[in-house]
Amino acid sequence: MDFEVTFLPEGKKIKVRRNTHVLEAARQAGVTISTRCGGRMGCLMCKVHIQDQNNCLPPKDAERRKLGTLVEEGTRLSCQTVITGDLIVTVPEDRLKAAVRRQLEAARRGETDDFI
Ligand code: FES
Repeated sequence: MDFEVTFLPEGKKIKVRRNTHVLEAARQAGVTISTRCGGRMGCLMCKVHIQDQNNCLPPKDAERRKLGTLVEEGTRLSCQTVITGDLIVTVPEDRLKAAVRRQLEAARRGETDDFI
């Protein structure tokens, strides 16, 4: 059975099989989630927010230790999160991308000419 995974803020959707990891689903959907460890829980760069934790397997102890209280707020490591139902996943914006977006928005509003 396939499940639909929606990645926000882009709104990209993909159908995946049960037990696919969120990181793999993101790659299949063409959504970029930065990583450095190749999914071995070493870099903690692949954090995402999962809206409905009932549609994925709960975090194992190692993931809980790495994320601490963030788990209770819906944060998961995409490389460790196993899909068991339809999911809505929010991918945090890359810091550099966010900085560029803020500069462009400020320039459009005429608040700065740093980009010219
Ligand atoms: S990819 Fe490095 S912790 Fe998930």
